[in-house]
Amino acid sequence: MCGIVGYIGPREAYPIVIKGLKRLEYRGYDSAGISLINSSGMNVYKKKGKVTDLEEATLGKDISGHIGIGHTRWATHGEPSDRNAHPHTSNDGSLSMIHNGIIENYASIKQELSNKGYQFSSDTDTEVLLNFIQDIKQNNNCSLEEALRIALKRIVGAYCILLIDKNDNNTIIAARKGSPLVIGIGKGEHFLASDATPFIEYTKEVVYVNDYEIAIVRADELILKNLGNEKQTPFITKLDMELAAVEKGGYKHFMLKEIHEQPSTIFDCLRGRLLTHSGEIRMAGIDNNIDKLANANRIVMVACGTSWHAGLIAEYVFEELCRIPVEVEYASEFRYRNPVINEGDVIIAISQSGETADTLVALESAKAKGAFIFGVVNAVGSSIARISHAGAYTHAGPEIGVASTKAFTGQLAVLNMMALKIAKAKGTITEDRYINLMKELEAVPEKVKEILADTSNIKAIAEKYKDAPDALFLGRGYNFPVALEGALKLKEISYIHAEGYPAAEMKHGPIALVTDKLPVVFVATKDSYYEKIVSNVQEIKARKGMVIAVATVGDTVIPSMADDTMFVPDADELIAPLLSTIPLQLLSYYVGVAKGYNVDMPRNLAKSVTVE
Ligand code: F6R
Repeated sequence: MCGIVGYIGPREAYPIVIKGLKRLEYRGYDSAGISLINSSGMNVYKKKGKVTDLEEATLGKDISGHIGIGHTRWATHGEPSDRNAHPHTSNDGSLSMIHNGIIENYASIKQELSNKGYQFSSDTDTEVLLNFIQDIKQNNNCSLEEALRIALKRIVGAYCILLIDKNDNNTIIAARKGSPLVIGIGKGEHFLASDATPFIEYTKEVVYVNDYEIAIVRADELILKNLGNEKQTPFITKLDMELAAVEKGGYKHFMLKEIHEQPSTIFDCLRGRLLTHSGEIRMAGIDNNIDKLANANRIVMVACGTSWHAGLIAEYVFEELCRIPVEVEYASEFRYRNPVINEGDVIIAISQSGETADTLVALESAKAKGAFIFGVVNAVGSSIARISHAGAYTHAGPEIGVASTKAFTGQLAVLNMMALKIAKAKGTITEDRYINLMKELEAVPEKVKEILADTSNIKAIAEKYKDAPDALFLGRGYNFPVALEGALKLKEISYIHAEGYPAAEMKHGPIALVTDKLPVVFVATKDSYYEKIVSNVQEIKARKGMVIAVATVGDTVIPSMADDTMFVPDADELIAPLLSTIPLQLLSYYVGVAKGYNVDMPRNLAKSVTVE
């Protein structure tokens, strides 16, 4: 969702901010804008469309200045348009602000300000907040920082804001609650952004701003305060991220690059943790809390989207290996329905970005009710990672393509290791099975490499079915959530309507959809459900449905019935989703490309869903 970039220091701000906004494009947006201050005043440029449209709009204009703030907007209040794009300017023309988040009580504040004669040139909640700050500053004759602090105490909602005053060309004031903000520390310069990707080539030293903190950022100074005006000590973290991780590296799309990175990202996730030779799994977050985890009365997986699918697979694995009851909850539902949380409940939060608003708020309320929170997160230092009591990173590196691919397999790898560790501690797994599953996990990166070695068959299948208006994805057991994930990927990348179902459920309704025009994708690898799924394939063929199967290398039965087959190497059924998901990622990628869509930035979607 909205991306935020700011720069203050000796360099020209414009190129840094523009390049930073391009790096944040993956978050999803519909308009972009920038404000710059130089000796002749403040210049604000904003445009509906892409950052390149903004660049065009600034051609020949004054873009000089050593202080700048830029924004990519994903519309919430008000349609995508030039006037709703950020930055917004205060009524007196002195202040400029960008904002990521939603101000829930903006309507009453807007009324208050309108009564005082304020005019609004956009439909946004941001412009309301900005004029509210201006009003407080004037009425109280106080500093901008003080006015912001007073305003933030009055507002309800989520925000990350950057604020500049045209009369002060050496300060950016920033604040956050619920929306991410990271500050990069350079030599005599500072960078501000929604994540570190915009400034990774300039500095690796960062400060993650916490909720309810205000940052006063000057070229050579960073002051952090809480809303009570007390100074906070900035905690500097060293980033372990290279520029190459946020570039396409020769691939046509980030999504394709990230699919192909999976042998190494899964390897990185297992490295130093899965010690097959000694039969040990080393994960500090679990080791330090093994009593809580092994004695959990119940585990609740809380997540959204693809991460929720990882939770569903983990439900099967945890219940099988650890014999602990598991529930998998959509964060957005969990947070609003006053769930019962008892002592001894463990919440496992799964999130790539670590910033998903629904997941974050669900965790905050579960934490307040006394639950132990374990985060399975990809983005290092993100909000979910920080509010969790303990956790394990997936180490997949920055995921830029909007569709989650490598983060999903990273989540599965972490959750499998976690289940194995807990099962071992509880004594619910035999030594043989434990070692065997460790070896199976260890073999995954090589097996993924085998799938990726030649993808021409999957590409051809994608081209054959690309014009289908609908598709059904079916699977059983561990492969049922894989079917859901396959359907989600196809929907978001190719805009084809797709449904995922447990294959046996088909007879209870969805089979009515089957015609000779409907592609039905079966995830039908060799597992304990195999015979059953063979029957389900026959039921579809008997109704002339077109069957695309994901089958195990060496299987001849499924391929003989299917119209088209994508093969994956054999694996234990607990581990198989790490493999069977890969052809489905590629299928949706190639369908999206064949249809000419922007697979890295599908319409309406945002990478990091920081609003509810
Ligand atoms: C789908 C996708 C989304 C995310 C969901 C949760 O490809 O990427 O469904 O999985 O928005 O995001 P995170 O994992 O960042 O909490």
